[in-house]
Amino acid sequence: MRATGPSVESTLRILKLALHQFRNIAELAIELNPRFNIFVGPNAQGKTNILESIYLLSSLQSFKGSRNRELIGWDVDEAFVRGLVERDHVSYEVLITLTPAQKRVKIDGKSPKSSFDVFGLVNVVLFAPEDLRITKGEPDARRRFVDRAIFNADSGHLELVRNYQKVLRNRNNLLKQSPAERNLALLEVYDEQLGELGGQLMQRRASFLEELAPHFSRAFLEIVGEERELQLLYQTSGGISTASEALVGALVAARGRDLRRGSTSVGPHLDDLELLLEGRNTRAFASQGQHRALVLALKIGEIAYLREKLGFYPALMLDDVSSELDRQRNGQLMEYLKGFGGQVFITTTDLVHLGIDSDYQAFRVDAGTVSRTS
Ligand SMILES: Nc1ncnc2c1ncn2[C@@H]1O[C@H](COP(=O)(O)OP(=O)(O)O)[C@@H](O)[C@H]1O
Ligand SMILES: [Mg+2]
Repeated sequence: MRATGPSVESTLRILKLALHQFRNIAELAIELNPRFNIFVGPNAQGKTNILESIYLLSSLQSFKGSRNRELIGWDVDEAFVRGLVERDHVSYEVLITLTPAQKRVKIDGKSPKSSFDVFGLVNVVLFAPEDLRITKGEPDARRRFVDRAIFNADSGHLELVRNYQKVLRNRNNLLKQSPAERNLALLEVYDEQLGELGGQLMQRRASFLEELAPHFSRAFLEIVGEERELQLLYQTSGGISTASEALVGALVAARGRDLRRGSTSVGPHLDDLELLLEGRNTRAFASQGQHRALVLALKIGEIAYLREKLGFYPALMLDDVSSELDRQRNGQLMEYLKGFGGQVFITTTDLVHLGIDSDYQAFRVDAGTVSRTS
């Protein structure tokens, strides 16, 4: 049987973006291209700030970890970011108002019941030069990559992470108390709670990594152009299994040590992710070029994973990436982008680096002022 009508593909598009007193951008109101949007200009003009505002629509947070005060223009006390978003054939207007003390969100003019209703509306994957930390840096950069990717497909994941962190803080506070004020019965309760939440967290991470692995390997193969043996290994702290009972057991066993140190020495807050290339740990052995290829493959892998989960491509933001990649990898990235069906936001100091010649809108960014170039 044939389908009776054309199937309309599901997409995510940010149709319009408006900013008011956001960082160095006093006013901005632009219509965006459904495919490529390129922000061009010399350094320190506001290109990254525009990406940061779009990221804010997605996660209510700055990817730089900045506080409200830093996001609001220097001489004023209020800023806003407004986006018109079309997701799976439905449009939403998302408005985020920032004051030094708070972020307020409205969707179509109404306050959502919880911020969890906002998360997951705009799915974006960001690739910035600092992302090289994921493969080169400390484990927390890898944990953040993993949790952010899971959260991108399922906003409930954030609640799990936050609940885990809350109980972890409680347990650590108790561990720091003097022997006289410590309530060991409470420690019993925390170990149970932390074990339960931590087990769920580890299982989520493990199943995500299992699903990511083939996408990651395929992307890496495409980028480097030759078959290489690549492994993505999830390392739980203490090498325990992901079962809640295993974590409860490990927490109970660690109590003496944890009381002496005043902190919790086992659990998913200490997890790591190991990348092995031809059996060697890339963190120690990979070249600069290989690190770039690995991070790019992780991000492209994340995109493929999200497309499977969401049914459409997330938006992709590339901050100054051309300057970070060598010519060959840059070419491969642009080649990939041609087949990528999602919306793309790119910042660059020079349009000619990119080699994008159709379906795009370029904007010139000059001291916080943004104008269309054509
Ligand atoms: N809260 C703020 N108010 C005004 N200007 C800001 C604020 N935060 C950052 N800036 C300015 O924004 C500029 C950096 O913008 P950025 O987007 O990082 O530039 P680039 O074009 O290099 O990506 C700098 O000139 C910085 O002084
Ligand atoms: Mg920048």
